[in-house]
Amino acid sequence: MKKVILDVDTGIDDALGIMLALGSGRLDVLGITTVSGNVSLEQATENTCKILDLLQAGQDLPVVPGAAKPLLRPAFFEHRVHGSDGIGGALRGVRTARRPEGRSAADYMIEQIRRHPGELTLVMTGPLTNLALAAAQAPDIVRDVREVIVMGGVVQSYGNVTPVAEYNMYVDPEAARIVLNAGFRELVLVGLDVTRKALLSEEHIERLGDTPYGRYVRESTADYMNRYCERNGVRACALHDPLAVGVAIDRKLVTTGHYYVDVETRSELCDGQTVCDFQNRLQREPNAHVCVDVNADAFLDMFIAALRPSHQ
Ligand code: RIB
Ligand code: CA
Repeated sequence: MKKVILDVDTGIDDALGIMLALGSGRLDVLGITTVSGNVSLEQATENTCKILDLLQAGQDLPVVPGAAKPLLRPAFFEHRVHGSDGIGGALRGVRTARRPEGRSAADYMIEQIRRHPGELTLVMTGPLTNLALAAAQAPDIVRDVREVIVMGGVVQSYGNVTPVAEYNMYVDPEAARIVLNAGFRELVLVGLDVTRKALLSEEHIERLGDTPYGRYVRESTADYMNRYCERNGVRACALHDPLAVGVAIDRKLVTTGHYYVDVETRSELCDGQTVCDFQNRLQREPNAHVCVDVNADAFLDMFIAALRPSHQ
């Protein structure tokens, strides 16, 4: 099984991504690093611990807190989408006894990459601050990472924060530029172009059944789906982060093209925009395998199967 570190800003879909990663039984998740994004670092870390408790994950699976804010910019929480607690109000009142690690996410990433040279997959489902810090602190690790799978950006459609910028890129565009230009051997960009096609519907939730996981998914996505309906006319929850995990499990879920991608950081209107050079006009080496299509049915089947383990 692939060795994986998940980097999350646990939010509603990050939590579903953790559930897929652990529930699939197809990834060896070594640890989870947390970052400020949808909610504060502290809240994202607590939410991650709660989800691991729900999954009955072993206490030996470390949760390692990282950056409490973007590299240069102020934090930009997204409570309107994820709720004040970050997971749609689910697990309210539940306490976790799980204790996050004392070291930093960047140190943990560097340590694990050096311990498993060429073997580690990093699945990034929040702003890229932690990985940017790790790459800046230890540039040697870049060549030793097997692959980086990033949920972020949008290259042929509109943004979800500004008309052109996707949230993870918008929150820390400087970090995204560092990661995209660091020289990782294999970077897969799972953007809104494909995640907007990976929609969890009421019918999918029904298929999860009346189980602890099914009840959690229903509760955590209820408000999200209502708001999605107001904006898009259909009651659904875009599985942005779970699709990045799905790509780690089976790359064949997506169709990709190899292009040069960069991120705008000095614009009044377009900061955080991921600019994809489809026609190689800049004559720069391609640095990302950009997802341009997805087998949504196959992915949703994978997701449902992973959350319906018989042992619930
Ligand atoms: O744009 C969607 C991404 O931003 C997801 O990772 C979501 O959790 C938020 O972090
Ligand atoms: Ca996220």
